Amino acid sequence: MDAAEPILPASDQAALGRSPRAPACQFVIFGAGGDLTRRLLMPALYNLRLAGLLDEQFRIIGVDAREMDDNAFRAHLTEAMDFFVTQRRGDAPGKLDQTAWTWMCDRIIYLSGDFGNPDTFTRLNAALPEAGSVIFYCATAARFFETLGAQLHASGLTREEEGYFRRIVVEKPFGHDLTSARALNTALLEVFDESQIYRIDHYLGKETVQNIMALRFSNGIFEPIWKRDNIDHVQITAAETVGVEQRGKFYEGTGAMRDMVPNHIFQLLSMVAMEAPTSFDADAVRSEKAKVIQAIHPLSGRQAVRDVVRGQYRAGRYGADPVPGYRSEPDVDCNSSTETYIAMRLAIDNWRWAGVPFYIRTGKRLARRRTEISIHFKQAPFALFRDTPVEKLTPNILFLHIQPTEGVTLQFSAKVPGPRVRLGGVSMNFNYADYFHEGPSTGYETLLYDCLTGDATLFQRADNVEAGWGVVQPALDAWDSGHIHVHPYAAGSEGPEAADEMLQRDGRGWVPIGR
Ligand code: BG6
Repeated sequence: MDAAEPILPASDQAALGRSPRAPACQFVIFGAGGDLTRRLLMPALYNLRLAGLLDEQFRIIGVDAREMDDNAFRAHLTEAMDFFVTQRRGDAPGKLDQTAWTWMCDRIIYLSGDFGNPDTFTRLNAALPEAGSVIFYCATAARFFETLGAQLHASGLTREEEGYFRRIVVEKPFGHDLTSARALNTALLEVFDESQIYRIDHYLGKETVQNIMALRFSNGIFEPIWKRDNIDHVQITAAETVGVEQRGKFYEGTGAMRDMVPNHIFQLLSMVAMEAPTSFDADAVRSEKAKVIQAIHPLSGRQAVRDVVRGQYRAGRYGADPVPGYRSEPDVDCNSSTETYIAMRLAIDNWRWAGVPFYIRTGKRLARRRTEISIHFKQAPFALFRDTPVEKLTPNILFLHIQPTEGVTLQFSAKVPGPRVRLGGVSMNFNYADYFHEGPSTGYETLLYDCLTGDATLFQRADNVEAGWGVVQPALDAWDSGHIHVHPYAAGSEGPEAADEMLQRDGRGWVPIGR
């Protein structure tokens, strides 16, 4: 496909700028001194300001344990902003828009306090205007989510008055397994109404993930073939080249399954596999997503062993650069059996997908950073080609590239020029960047704006979260009973051989990550 003039507004600041301004709101960040606040929340809020979407009365109250005054907090953020905003925009350092940032700084205050201490919430209450809308953003470690909900409730901060909202945003990980996710939902639902809870999954802030719905449902050609009659299988890959970096402590108790599958990977899966919702209404979309995840066939104990592959990276190299194995990373046990790679074969037991395997894989230190979905169509009948040099037909594949390349590719066969019938593989390629100019974006702008305006479509409902955990729980149980081996793979490789064998058993193969 040739690059043409943009035919739709770009998914950037200009497009956001055409949205109405969000209502006035106090934005309280618990964990204000942490990495998420500096890296993502503040740059995203700043981008919303640049797009003219924040109300004049917008205010940020940072809360954290560290003693700091307002000015020290602003200075701490300014230093980070110079780096993160300019870095993401690819500008030369120092291009932070000073007018916009000063506007932000004038609206930032800091409150130091312990999240478990009621006094913190009394002081927070005093810092908030008597009436008004408030968002409480839990940018903290997961162990504080329940406490924060309970403390906010006890200090009367969760009550919504006529015309004003009170919302809580909860980051992942939402629970550690099905039981803890249920317990956290129960605890939050005791003090908030479901409509006040925004469970965030940053994959849904990615334009290319949101585009899956647009691709499927705004074009007439895809839906009629999007089913078991035509599709052989689906592969979903989220491959990273980074290791666990400085997160060894967190990762040791988490692993690739909990970190990526019930949340990010299942978001991708539900976008590809769900039925068309009747509208973009938050509950219509979330109900369809919940249904498709609930339709995943529960893994039996045997399948949890046969259809799940765990892997862990060993030392390896990227080009000339050697990298250490997982067990040599900081804060990681030298005998650790935490998986850094997971591959699974899932079956969706409904009319659209029965008999179509969904193979998912995700891992760290793989050959290449690549998040993509490939839809593998059934092979065409061969009869016509019997008396030609063509030995076999190659099935069509539709690739939905999520990152770092963003676009769609269709692979198909064409005749090679010449007197004899020979076929060659060709592809049609759509690249986002050829059509739409991307503006500064952390991926959090849309999510924060939606939360400010009360649109929960891109947030997880309690049943979505529990459905995701429900699917992986049998595998987690099997691991607890020590049944599943962790296969080593070299850093920089395609992952463990056992994952290849899993597909080979079905007569299929993974699309190479490092291609
Ligand atoms: C996070 C995980 O939720 O997602 C990380 O905790 C992972 O381990 C990250 O690296 C991947 O996100 P992205 O946007 O880089 O694909």
